[in-house]
Amino acid sequence: MMMLAQLWGGVFDTSPLKIFEDFNQSLPFDQALWAFDILGSIAHVSMLGKQGYLTEEEAHTLVLGLQSLYQELEAGTTPIDMACEDIHSFVEKTLTDRLGTVGKKIHMGRSRNDQVALDMKLYTRAKITQLIVQVEGLVHALCTQASQNLNTIMPGFTHLQVAQPITFGHHLMAYTEMFLRDRSRLSDCLVRLNTCPLGAGALATSTFNLDRQFVAEQLGFDDVTYNSLDTVSDRDYLIELLSDLSLVMMHLSRLSEELVLWNSQAFGFVVLEKSLCTGSSMMPQKQNPDGAELIRGKTGRVYGSLISLLTTMKSLPLAYNKDMQEDKEPVFDAITQVSGCLEIMRAMISGLRANAESMRKLCEKGFIAATDVADYLVNKGVPFRESHELVGAIIRHCQAENLTLEQLDLPTLRGFSSLFDADFFESIALEACINQRNIVGGPAPAQVQSRINTVLEILS
Ligand code: ARG
Repeated sequence: MMMLAQLWGGVFDTSPLKIFEDFNQSLPFDQALWAFDILGSIAHVSMLGKQGYLTEEEAHTLVLGLQSLYQELEAGTTPIDMACEDIHSFVEKTLTDRLGTVGKKIHMGRSRNDQVALDMKLYTRAKITQLIVQVEGLVHALCTQASQNLNTIMPGFTHLQVAQPITFGHHLMAYTEMFLRDRSRLSDCLVRLNTCPLGAGALATSTFNLDRQFVAEQLGFDDVTYNSLDTVSDRDYLIELLSDLSLVMMHLSRLSEELVLWNSQAFGFVVLEKSLCTGSSMMPQKQNPDGAELIRGKTGRVYGSLISLLTTMKSLPLAYNKDMQEDKEPVFDAITQVSGCLEIMRAMISGLRANAESMRKLCEKGFIAATDVADYLVNKGVPFRESHELVGAIIRHCQAENLTLEQLDLPTLRGFSSLFDADFFESIALEACINQRNIVGGPAPAQVQSRINTVLEILS
């Protein structure tokens, strides 16, 4: 039976059980790290050359070998040899096969423990940068859709009950605030993870005089890490990332849920682009909002990744333990899912059409201007609590007579309070209700427009 190519055979006088080899192998998933493993190795080899542990020629040969392997893997001309235990073994074995003895020198002063910590940091650093761009793309799409709907009046809800009038633009812009916070959390995660693990070795650094600062600079880190045990044991940054991604998904799932509701016949607030819906195998009429539903569904999966890694790391003694190999699949999967969800949500937001008529129609129900009636009386000198009570009684009257607030006549209103005047009716028109809420954070079109401008400036 073929044995996997391993880096640690010396002490063993038996070969591992095949089922254990398969169980232990990480190459099927850690091959995603190939580019970062090679970049890290280039920095390590350059440092070994600079410190005199490799001759200039040896360092040069190794760097060239690593660079050409990088190019071949990028071009897809060299396959990753699945007979290796992990990506680190594959890179070292390939170099040794190609370059002979000099290839065997690459791993001096290094362990797979600091190497894998480095690879994961470089990988997540690159992915976070891409995710930030995608979050910004979604924020852009929301701003564009919002600016087209500054005057599209819709009911705002609390408890999913009609509450006060807002605009569709105002509602969409609520999500830009969430995604801007996500963006800031992701950038923050980048700042904290940006310290270089290489040089920590297996757990206790190295007997060689490694220039850790040089390696850190080569790889674009702000600093090195300061305790070798912590360095090889630390997966905080991955948990932090998964937590940030869970929040992104929480926001995406809330927006998805609203899209599903709004797109339903019951609401009819929006029409989603057909190219982002699917049909039913039985019911010919169906156009289901699967994009939004899938995002809602994948949220559970991303939360699962967070809980998975938190649980893996719980109670692990220092320093490295093989348990930590289990960090990769949840992190890779969460990044892939969030990236896909951001892309689909951007497309759904860009392509949706708001149905102003349905939104307005629902505003006619539920006494949406009730707070404005109360405020009307407050403006005429009635204390708010008294006015609230009085408007409650007016609404009870409307409910009994099956009337809307707009349908009341002045004499009836005056029966409740002599302060009601002809200006009452214009003050509870939907447009007035919105324009009257003209302070920072409010739904008045001028306020929403001003926030759109600021958000676009933040992104530029
Ligand atoms: N595949 C391992 C991981 O992902 C790499 C580190 C292996 N270290 C070790 N001492 N076996 O964690």
